[in-house]
Amino acid sequence: MKDNTLELFAKEVEEGLSQSPKRLSSKWFYDKKGDELFVQIMNMPEYYLTKCEEEIFANQTERLTSSLIAGFDDFDLFELGAGDGSKTMHLLEALKSLNFTYRPIDISLNAIEQLEKRVAANIPEIQVEGIQDEYFEALSKLSGKRPKVILFMGSNIGNMLDDRANEFLLKLSATMQSGDRLLLGVDLIKDESIILPAYNDAQGITSEFNLNLLDRINRELGGDFNREMFSHTPQYDQDKGIAYSYITSLAEQDVSIKALDRTFHFQKEEKVFTEVSRKYDDRALQAITNHTSLVLKDKIFDSKSYFCDAIFEKE
Ligand SMILES: C[S@@+](CC[C@H](N)C(=O)[O-])C[C@H]1O[C@@H](n2cnc3c(N)ncnc32)[C@H](O)[C@@H]1O
Repeated sequence: MKDNTLELFAKEVEEGLSQSPKRLSSKWFYDKKGDELFVQIMNMPEYYLTKCEEEIFANQTERLTSSLIAGFDDFDLFELGAGDGSKTMHLLEALKSLNFTYRPIDISLNAIEQLEKRVAANIPEIQVEGIQDEYFEALSKLSGKRPKVILFMGSNIGNMLDDRANEFLLKLSATMQSGDRLLLGVDLIKDESIILPAYNDAQGITSEFNLNLLDRINRELGGDFNREMFSHTPQYDQDKGIAYSYITSLAEQDVSIKALDRTFHFQKEEKVFTEVSRKYDDRALQAITNHTSLVLKDKIFDSKSYFCDAIFEKE
């Protein structure tokens, strides 16, 4: 873990649990255990997002490459929140004869290390330079004279509410040069009966994934959360097109965190907000790209039209 990651984790846990309502950021889901659980989530039948985007990357690789790479023969390929990079491997395979460096960025050091090994083992001709960092912090590292292609897949952008997403895309577009490309993978608005099970599967993997955050606080910050006393409670707001995840306290209780030298009180049924997963239509996509200098060039859908990879070019 990068030196200041533990410090930042402690600071954000303290701030989040001191607020009313309490909150913990979803970016802290991803320690080694969280990364493994997320791979299981991607493989579960209910998590259609990965399957749909995988289908786009596997079946429409030519369209993707021509939209993303046209005119570039020496470039940097950045990926924000790359995770295990399983979908990206299709694109890397198609690009392997070109002159570029793949620069995946992720807050999870474990994810970056595993991904570097995966690319080296499967497509050794590709030059990989992983970066462990937080998205906003990492923006300053998207520099360099070569043209840039930036991937932001998996509807990760949906983990930010619209104002924050717009602020992020404004900053991101400011780091881009004219002609640079961005692929933004977004999950589309659809019925609750399809969306909610992706965050509340029958086997309980998403519950395990959310509650692992309490275990992480126990492991890394000396907390004494008893996870049996909390439950994972997702909700989908059909009108807004937003799924929310919460960790709910099952009893009135106190939890101490040694590294913070603090005790936090939880009421019975009190909810700790952990994650937002925004779903998109044209209007929502417009709302987050407002005032940026990103011009929409292409929209690529899976066969069910559940998911869209939107391709933008900097003006
Ligand atoms: C939902 S997973 C998706 C992974 C991959 N993009 C995909 O489509 O399969 C989110 C990934 O983004 C990373 N991540 C989440 N929040 C982040 C942040 N604020 N900064 C950097 N990485 C972040 C996590 O560690 C995780 O690997």
